[in-house]
Parts: sequence; C-alpha cells; structure tokens
Amino acid sequence: MRLYLDTADLGQIREMARLGVLDGVTTNPAIVAGTEKSYRNAVEDIAEVVDGPVFAQVIAADADEMVREARGYQEWAADVVAKIPATRAGFEALSRLRTGGIPAGTTVVFSVEQAVLAAKNDASFVAPYVGRLDDAGSDGVETVRRMQEIYDTYGFETELLAASIRNTTQAVALYEAGVDAVTMSPEVLEAHIPHPKTDEGVAGFEAAWGDRGSPLDERGDSS
Ligand code: E4P
Repeated sequence: MRLYLDTADLGQIREMARLGVLDGVTTNPAIVAGTEKSYRNAVEDIAEVVDGPVFAQVIAADADEMVREARGYQEWAADVVAKIPATRAGFEALSRLRTGGIPAGTTVVFSVEQAVLAAKNDASFVAPYVGRLDDAGSDGVETVRRMQEIYDTYGFETELLAASIRNTTQAVALYEAGVDAVTMSPEVLEAHIPHPKTDEGVAGFEAAWGDRGSPLDERGDSS
C-alpha cells in the first residue's frame, strides 16, 4: 500500500517524510494556488524534499492543452505524474499521453464507471474522492471497495488511489478494503499517531524508571 501526502506545505512534507511512511506527494490546483508560488516552483520545491512522485494536475479543459501541460510538467522534475480530470476531454488526453509514454492518471473520480474507463485507458492511477462522495450523499468507502473488486476481477494494473480522505475512520476502512494507495492531508496522517493509552503507558514506564537516567550512562555492573 502506498501512502501519499496531499499538500504543498514543504515543512509538513519534511516532517512526515521523517516518519519514513511517505511514498510521494499529491497536489491539486487549489493546493498549489494556496502556496502563492508559480505552479512550476511549487512542483520543483516539493520534488526536492520528497523521495517519490509528485502528482500535478492539468489546468486546461481541452484535450490538446491538457496533453501540452502534462508533457511540459515532465520538464520540471524527475518524477512528475500528471493528474487528468475524468472528463471526456480528460480521457482523450489520457489516451494520447499513455501512448506517448507520459506518466498520467485520472482524478476527480466519482463513479465506478469512470474508474473502469481509466483502467481501460491504462491510467497509472485513478483517484476517487471519498470525502466528497460522502458529501454528495454517496458512500465513498463503499464506492472505492466496489472499484477495487472490479479491478481485482479483471486484473487491471491501474493504482486505485483513494483521495479526499477526511478522517482516520475513512482511512482505516480503506485499508480494510485493501486499497492500493491513499492520499491524505498532514492533519489526517498526524491523527494516525497518538493514542491516550500509549501516552499513559509511556508515562507509567517513565515513572517506574524514575531518575536513573539513560541506560547508556549507567555504570557497568560486573556482578
Ligand atoms: C487528490 O489528489 C486531491 O488533491 C484531494 O484529495 C482532494 O480532496 P479534497 O476533497 O480535500 O479537496
């Protein structure tokens, strides 16, 4: 299972990379706009701090321009994957990009049908929006589970990358469904760490050890 961080915040990317769990970073136009950097600078900066792909979405709405942007992004860093929205123009652009060997996949995905078209198109990934599906009155996790089942049945190689994850309950349900990959905000990833019983347990061990200091500084006991 691959785990991506959905942000352009370099400090948070560095902090989470230190935990050793990051496989790359996803962005979208709203995330990049929030940095007030040029698109290129935002992607280049992320690529410098993360070990893994940077996902960058095309802005254009027509196929020719989507293809041009996705090709151009390849010049910005060594491992950029173009995100192409699941529109008619997007599927056409994806087909041309894949034929040309440009890494690209399908994003802003809201239905099983779109996920099937993406896989038939050899998308490198497909990103269903779990939280936004829930907002729209659907069941995001269940939609992803159905996609995963269909992908497994046909042996599609497209990575099923669950996006728009709002909390750890959704994340855990996605892990249970065996999803290929997840992308989440630093806040949702951060929420994976603490547990009150862990804090309580650590405090108990600290109290038991008292003021003995580091085991490395203890005087040797030859007996
Ligand atoms: C995926 O790569 C998107 O950037 C993202 O997960 C969108 O999620 P949102 O619903 O939080 O905007």
